[in-house]
Amino acid sequence: MSVLVTGGCGFIGSHTVVELLEEGQDVVIVDNLCNSKIEVLGKIEEITKRKPKFYQVDLCQKEELNQIFQKEKIDSVIHFAGLKAVGESVREPLRYYQNNLISTLNLLEVMEKHDCFQLVFSSSATVYGDVKKLPIKEDTPFSTTNPYGTTKRMIEEILTDVAYANPEKWRICILRYFNPIGAHSSGLIGEDPHGIPNNLMPYIVKVSQKELDHLTIYGNDYNTEDGTGVRDYIHVVDLAQGHLKALEKIRKSNGIFIYNLGTGKGHSVLEIVQAFERVNQVKIPYVIGARRPGDIASCYADVTKAQEELGFVASKTLDDMVRDSYHYVQKNKTH
Ligand code: NAD
Ligand code: UFG
Repeated sequence: MSVLVTGGCGFIGSHTVVELLEEGQDVVIVDNLCNSKIEVLGKIEEITKRKPKFYQVDLCQKEELNQIFQKEKIDSVIHFAGLKAVGESVREPLRYYQNNLISTLNLLEVMEKHDCFQLVFSSSATVYGDVKKLPIKEDTPFSTTNPYGTTKRMIEEILTDVAYANPEKWRICILRYFNPIGAHSSGLIGEDPHGIPNNLMPYIVKVSQKELDHLTIYGNDYNTEDGTGVRDYIHVVDLAQGHLKALEKIRKSNGIFIYNLGTGKGHSVLEIVQAFERVNQVKIPYVIGARRPGDIASCYADVTKAQEELGFVASKTLDDMVRDSYHYVQKNKTH
């Protein structure tokens, strides 16, 4: 039997495919490559010496997805596929609702049709919005502030209803990621955003390559230790391993489960810049700019539930994260 990984050519998906293959599981990837490259498949093979099956299919095309389930023996699904840029979702809400919701509805329908009831879903800490009580626990009420976040909230609600309607069948694990950074230690796979990045680590990496001349730190007047925003950064390989723990969980128990995946520790923007400079011996010029609209001061996870129920603990350090992010870009320089 195989694990179907939707969005398996993307940043988190590709790292999870590597962990699955290395654990001896068979993998089928479905990705329409709208935000990833086909070359990732060769890199996955180089790392694992195993080849996942691949279908270039858009999940919004239900019949094509149905045919994959007809051909392959799939017993569980990890669903990464989706659009994820917050700002873009504000400008193009319909594209976000179309892509993220329709693809998930199609997937659930096709899974039911083929008696496949084990699902791990990529949600996000964005479903918590601007939380006052830190660290953030899973029972914090939803409060989304942009269409991207709302698609995650809506999908979580759909999954809850689906599990409620058929509790003896469905086994669903919702994972709320905090801020994934880093890359595989081989330097073969990592994060490759198109154009000017929105997120902190990809931006720092481009500054380190002199593709951008400086970082703008969005505000140093927050109520945090050094005034800059605090987030819970988690190494993407730790995050990937969290998915294996989630699969293990739903293979043993039916129902719906929700977990934060983070380290439980917050780091400020300045701390990230300083760690990047120290570990990689490279200068990151920066200026302090205005706050970015919609940003919050601090966000970090309470990781107790994942630790107790999944046995998941992130093991990589901030130094590992900044080193691996830099190693990936150095290894994949095109000039
Ligand atoms: P990514 O863009 O690198 O990967 C997503 C993949 O899905 C891409 O390869 C893309 O081509 C594919 N895809 C998108 N729509 C598709 C469709 N309709 N049919 C088939 N394939 C489709 O993103 P990522 O960073 O790896 O994120 C994976 C998941 O985790 C997403 O659902 C994202 O919302 C969620 N998430 C990401 C972060 C983060 O900071 N990276 C944080 C929280 C949650
Ligand atoms: N930041 C800067 N300069 C930049 C980019 C970011 O100072 O050029 C700061 C932000 O103000 C924030 C921190 O760096 O304080 C992290 O910002 P990111 O954009 O990297 O991450 P966010 O926490 O804003 O959001 C990310 C994803 C969301 C997801 C959320 C929680 O982009 O999709 O993490 O998982 F919902």
